[in-house]
Amino acid sequence: RRKIIMDVDTGSDDAIALCAAMLSDELELLGVCTVGGNVEVKNTTDNTLRVVECCGRPEVKVYRGAALPLASTLQPWGLQAQELPRREGGRDQETAVHTDHLPLPPTSLREQQQSACVWLIETLLAAEDGEITLVPVGPITNIALAMRADPRILPKIREIVLMGGSHDTYPPTQAAEFNVWADPEALEIVLQSGVKVTMVSLDATSHACLDRRQAALLREIGSAPALLCAELVEHRLKASAAEGDADGTGVGAAIHDALAVCAVLHPEVLTEVEYTSCHVDLGHGYAYGETVLGRNYKFMEMPKNCYYARSADSQLFFDWLYGVLQKAAR
Ligand code: BDR
Ligand code: CA
Repeated sequence: RRKIIMDVDTGSDDAIALCAAMLSDELELLGVCTVGGNVEVKNTTDNTLRVVECCGRPEVKVYRGAALPLASTLQPWGLQAQELPRREGGRDQETAVHTDHLPLPPTSLREQQQSACVWLIETLLAAEDGEITLVPVGPITNIALAMRADPRILPKIREIVLMGGSHDTYPPTQAAEFNVWADPEALEIVLQSGVKVTMVSLDATSHACLDRRQAALLREIGSAPALLCAELVEHRLKASAAEGDADGTGVGAAIHDALAVCAVLHPEVLTEVEYTSCHVDLGHGYAYGETVLGRNYKFMEMPKNCYYARSADSQLFFDWLYGVLQKAAR
């Protein structure tokens, strides 16, 4: 089984990614780190614990991570709150994509005492070289912090499969995909680390869409995690309709973060993958947080540093998610 660590800002699509990571019998989830992003870190942590309980995996430990980005004082969840009402038609509170509390009962499970960064370093240092895959699907602050604090962790990481970046897809800010916008410096540190990175970009995840019929199929499975996933997909469908199709797909609700988990096991779910150079714009102008690909640097020699996915096989993605939930329910 593939050993992974998830790093999440749960979040609605994060919750679906977590369910899949906890329930797939091909993955060994070593622990979950949390970060402030879609909502504040106290809420991403609490939401994550609720998902752990919902999946019946109380042994999965949750480590609270960074509340704020490395180099700025911006509060990422502010974007989710401010940006959306400006869209035509506005939005009512109920259809906000991410809410402080997932539709799950409060849990008695508690987060660990250790912080995410310290636990990441300890766990990676104790591992064999190339043993552990990191799957960050929120702002990548915790991993950048750990890399800076103790670079001896680098060879221990088999690869990083992250959700973040955009090139062709209209992102939520002028130029940056949300996870990168929420901590651009952190992603640049990770991209320069020399570790193998696969970027499951917004371009790719815009194809990881589920529609009403697929949500109903998940619902039919009937287990608690399948019901949660169905409810969250339906919620995202409602939200994207209210925001004039915020995901820009017209065909369903994008379940961004779950595609990264799928890609760990089934890299072929990512299509149009290019080995390229990717750098984050760190100038504090309009393009702050934009992920700039090699092709835009034709006049310079930029070292290739990541596999950038631009598209995805939506049928394979759904079949995988459905299969994981159904098998775990038997
Ligand atoms: C990313 O931003 C968050 O809102 C989602 O959870 C996902 O990780 C998509 O841009
Ligand atoms: Ca996320």
